[in-house]
Formats: sequence, structure tokens, C-alpha cells
Amino acid sequence: MKLQIIALKISILVSHVLAAAPAQLFSPLVAQKVHNTFKLLPNPLQFPHTTDSTKGAWGLVDPNWWTSGFFPGTGYLMNTRKALCGDPTNELGTTDWLALSRSASNALLSLTDKNGIGHDVGFISFPFIEELTINPNNQTAINAVNRFAGLLAARFNSVVGCTRSWDTSDPTDFQVIIDNMMNLEVLFVSAALTRNKTLENIAIRHADTTQANHIRSDGSSWHVVEYNSTTGVAFKKRTAQGYSDSSTWTRGQAWGVYGFANMYRHTQKASYLDTARKMATYFINNTPSDGVIPWDFNAPLTPTPRPADTSAAMLAVNAFLMLAQYDPAAGAKDKWTNAALQLLGNNVPFAWKTSWQSLLSNGTSNKPSNNFNTGLVYGDYYFVLAGNELLKRNLTTCS
Ligand SMILES: *[C@@H]1O[C@H](CO)[C@@H](O)[C@H](O)[C@H]1NC(C)=O
Ligand SMILES: *[C@@H]1O[C@H](CO)[C@@H](O)[C@H](O)[C@H]1NC(C)=O
Ligand SMILES: *[C@@H]1O[C@H](CO)[C@@H](O)[C@H](O)[C@H]1NC(C)=O
Ligand SMILES: *[C@@H]1O[C@H](CO)[C@@H](O)[C@H](O)[C@H]1NC(C)=O
Ligand SMILES: *[C@@H]1O[C@H](CO)[C@@H](O)[C@H](O)[C@H]1NC(C)=O
Repeated sequence: MKLQIIALKISILVSHVLAAAPAQLFSPLVAQKVHNTFKLLPNPLQFPHTTDSTKGAWGLVDPNWWTSGFFPGTGYLMNTRKALCGDPTNELGTTDWLALSRSASNALLSLTDKNGIGHDVGFISFPFIEELTINPNNQTAINAVNRFAGLLAARFNSVVGCTRSWDTSDPTDFQVIIDNMMNLEVLFVSAALTRNKTLENIAIRHADTTQANHIRSDGSSWHVVEYNSTTGVAFKKRTAQGYSDSSTWTRGQAWGVYGFANMYRHTQKASYLDTARKMATYFINNTPSDGVIPWDFNAPLTPTPRPADTSAAMLAVNAFLMLAQYDPAAGAKDKWTNAALQLLGNNVPFAWKTSWQSLLSNGTSNKPSNNFNTGLVYGDYYFVLAGNELLKRNLTTCS
């Protein structure tokens, strides 16, 4: 009895320590903007990718692009949000998100036959993976997931121990990016559907090789590692979207935390948990004192402010929330949850522009190509996902 009271007191104390989620996460504008974006999509379908940097109007891309699964995916997340917070008096509750998402996903189906997105079939499969949580018998979604997994598996090289990220004119130049950790999920989902263990083994080999070569001893990461496909030797480590070859591109770092936490979720292999923790700790320790996540941790501090990347921040929020759920260490749950809530509090309010079509601004798509200070479809996706995750854990309420 006494112990129970003490436990209760501790849990109350802990819940008081947690930072509050920013109110924007559950603003009615979320449903309005996502719904409006569905309405503006042309026929044949194109998908939002980045906005311009002044008015926040979406630029659209053809389905054959690595980001095109994120908007249909956001629709599925809104369907989940509706179940959590639905209300017949508002747009969240009255919109048929499932119908909108299903119909938008159909524009991705032709990519199972022919596409130019390489390893990113993993990202494209997200809406189909979501569909299977709603209707596990949907044969269209099952086929899409299995086909995308087969395409990713076909990019595996057993000498290198990775699936190839980018195609190159010299086929022995085998380039792998840290982002590719995110694409492994489709292999696990397909392995569960088909009982084909090979798919899972490919994901594990890819993660092991990436763990050995992409991560520096301080927990930071390279964006690109180039392997020789005949010898398996990692002969070059460099950046593509970051500030320099020796810097740490923040979104890549966040993909890594998420990817390794997800590998731990699937395999319970301790080294993946260690890597996810190390990468997350680097992310937290290198966050500037104002809490704003820059596009690269080593980018110069001037001119002020250096471009932020809210997409990296939102992705890291979800990576930390995954660690909060699966890291078994004492105190880990509150530690990672708090880190996630702090990231939200520091990176959402300044990027909330009510007149923009995107939910957030201040994303960096590609700084070396001068594409920054925009909305990003995957930043919005991970923003909505973060809200859903907090709701599912009873860490916040719908309004
Ligand atoms: C199955 O999923 C596809 C897209 O993934 C969707 O277009 C279709 O409506 C779904 N069918 C059923 C019966 O749920
Ligand atoms: C399992 O997946 C691998 C990789 O896609 C494929 O080569 C193999 O044929 C599959 N095995 C079966 C029994 O379908
Ligand atoms: C990979 O190694 C082979 C054999 O040593 C060599 O011929 C080839 O040029 C190398 N490729 C690259 C990209 O370094
Ligand atoms: C966010 O972007 C705007 C331009 O849209 C810029 O003026 C502002 O300084 C940025 N905020 C941060 C914290 O980077
Ligand atoms: C959240 O609260 C609901 C209602 O009290 C409860 O049914 C559910 O189990 C809780 N979920 C978690 C993850 O604590």
C-alpha cells in the first residue's frame, strides 16, 4: 500500500517534469491544410514535395520520386488521428481520410513495375504498410509491399553487405547513404507476409555494414560511404547534402537514430540499441543552446540564423519516441520522451506559418543546391506522426 502510494507520487512527479507538447501539434489547421492539399492535387496525380520559401505554396512532383509516398502516408496518419480525436463538428472528424489516402496511393502502384527511385522503394511503401494495419488482407497493398521489398532486395550485394543506394556509371562504385536505413522496414514487413527469411537477413546485413562504416566513434555519421562492389572495401566517406565530408548532416543523423532504433525493435540486437543511443546522444549534445536544429551540426554559425531543418527535428522526435518505447534501461523512457518534447517545443512554434500550405516551414531539402527555408512533405509527415504517438501514449490530449 505504502509502496503503491510512493510509486504513484513518483509517477506524478515524473509527469510534471515532462515538457508540454506545443499546441500547434493539434491545431484545427492541421486537418484543414492537409485536406486542402489533397484538394489541389492534379489528375493525373502529382504529390507535394517542397514549398517555395516566401509564400509556402507546394511544388508538385511526379509519383516517380523518392518523397511521393509521404503525402498519401500523411493521409493515413490523419485517418489514425481521426480515430484518436475525431469530432463530427470539425474537418478532422468529417473528412474521409481513408478514401483520400487509398485513392492517392493508387498513383504509386505503377512504380512496382518500373521506377527510377532505387532504394527509395522503402519510403514509397509506407502508405501500403499503413493500409495493411487497417486491412491486413488487402491484396493490392500486400502485392505492392512484396514487390517493393523484392526490388530493394535485388539491390543487395553480398560482398559489400548492403543494398545499393545510388546507381553510378561505374557499377563497381557502390554508394550507400545513411538514409537507406529507413528503407529496411519494407523488408521486415514483407518477410512477415511471405515468411521469406532472406529479406530479413538482407536488412540485418545492411544494418551491420552501415553500423561498421557510417558511424564515427563519437556517434556522429557520414552521409555517404562508397564501397568497391568487387572487393567490398569502403574506399570513400563523404557528404552529399551536408556541409563537408567530415561534418554531420542533421537529417542523416536523425535517419540513423530512427533506423537503428527500428532495427532494435525488430531484432532486439543489443548493438543496434547501442548505436541508436549513441547517435541520439550525439544529436542531443550537439543541439545548439537555442534548441533550433540546424541543417548540419557543423555548418558555420554565420550568417545568422544559419538555415534550420525542421524535418530533421521532426524525424528525431519520432526516433526519440521509438527509443522511449523500446530502450529497456531504467529511466530511458522519460529521458527520450523529454528529449522528444523539447525538440518539438523548440522547433515547431517558429516554423508555424498559418498562411503556408505546408504545416511547417524552415525545412532544408538540400542546402548545397540552395534549397532551404521551405516546407517539406516529410517534415509534415513526421510532425503529424509525432502528435499521434504522443496521443497513443496518453502524453497529451487532442486539443
Ligand atoms: C487496398 O489498398 C489500395 C491501396 O493500397 C486501395 O486503393 C484500395 O482501396 C484498398 N482496397 C480495399 C478493399 O481496402
Ligand atoms: C526470398 O527473397 C529473396 C530476395 O528477394 C528471393 O531471391 C528469393 O527467391 C525469395 N525466396 C522465396 C522462397 O520466395
Ligand atoms: C574496385 O576494385 C576493382 C578491382 O581491384 C578495380 O578494378 C575497380 O576499379 C575498383 N572500383 C572503384 C570504384 O574503385
Ligand atoms: C525561419 O524561416 C524564416 C524565413 O521563412 C526566417 O526569417 C527565420 O529566421 C527562420 N527561423 C529560424 C529559427 O531559423
Ligand atoms: C491511455 O489511456 C486509455 C484510457 O484511459 C487507456 O485505455 C490506455 O491503455 C492508455 N494507454 C497507454 C499507452 O497508457
